[in-house]
Amino acid sequence: MDAGEGRGVRQRLESLARAGVETLPARGRGAASSAVPPATARPVPDEDAAPATMPSHTLAVLRDEVAACTRCTELASQRTRTVFGTGRADARLVFFGEAPGADEDVSGEPFVGRAGQLLTKIIEACTLRREDVYIMNVLKCRPPGNRAPLPEEVRNCRPFFERQFEIIRPEFICCLGASAAQSLLESTETIGKLRGRWFSHGSAQVICTYHPSYLLRNPAAKRDVWEDMKVLMARMGVELSNA
Ligand code: URA
Repeated sequence: MDAGEGRGVRQRLESLARAGVETLPARGRGAASSAVPPATARPVPDEDAAPATMPSHTLAVLRDEVAACTRCTELASQRTRTVFGTGRADARLVFFGEAPGADEDVSGEPFVGRAGQLLTKIIEACTLRREDVYIMNVLKCRPPGNRAPLPEEVRNCRPFFERQFEIIRPEFICCLGASAAQSLLESTETIGKLRGRWFSHGSAQVICTYHPSYLLRNPAAKRDVWEDMKVLMARMGVELSNA
C-alpha cells in the first residue's frame, strides 16, 4: 500500500469509527474488503524526504504571498488580516465560500462566525470534522459591509484560489452559495440551477449548495443542503448513519 492509499484507508476507517464501527471482520471473509474500499487518493510525498514539496509547505509559502497582496486597493487598505484557508493540506474535500466577514477578518480564519458555526454543524452531520477537510473562500480579504465580491476582485484573487486547488488537489469541491459556484465554474447560472448537478474543476468533482448565511435567513433550505450533502457523501464513500 502506498502513502496515498494509506491516507484514504485511514480516512475511511476514521469515518467508520465516527459512525460507531469499532471492529472490522478479518480479511478474506469478504466483508472487510467491501467495508474499506480501495483508496482513490493521490500519493503523498514523504515529508522527511522532501519537505519543500509537501502541500502544507507550499500552502504556507502561498499564504505569505496572499498576506502581502495589495491588488485590490480598497480591500487591502481596510482589512485587518487576510483569510487564506484552513484544514488539511491533503484534504479530499474542500468547502469553498465567498469571502471573509467581520469575524473572519479579525481572526484570520474562514467560517468562524455564525455562518461558520452552521458550516461546522453541517460538516459534523456528515460524520466529518473541520480538521478532516479544507475550508477557503474566493476572496481572501473582507469586502466592506460584507458586500458581494466585485468581478475585478474575483479576477485578482483567482490566481490564489486556483493555486490553492492545485496544491491541495482535492477529489471534491463543495461550492457554498452563488458567488463561490459562479466564480469557480465561471458561470452566470443561479445557485438554484447549479445545485443538483456534478461539475469538474481540474481533477476535482464539484457540487454546489446553498451558503450557510442563506440558511440562517431561510432555515427551510437546510433540507436541500442536507440532500446535497447526502449525494456528496455517497460519492465520497462516507457512510451516514443518520441519512
Ligand atoms: N462567509 C463566507 O463565505 N466565508 C467566510 O469565511 C465567512 C462567511
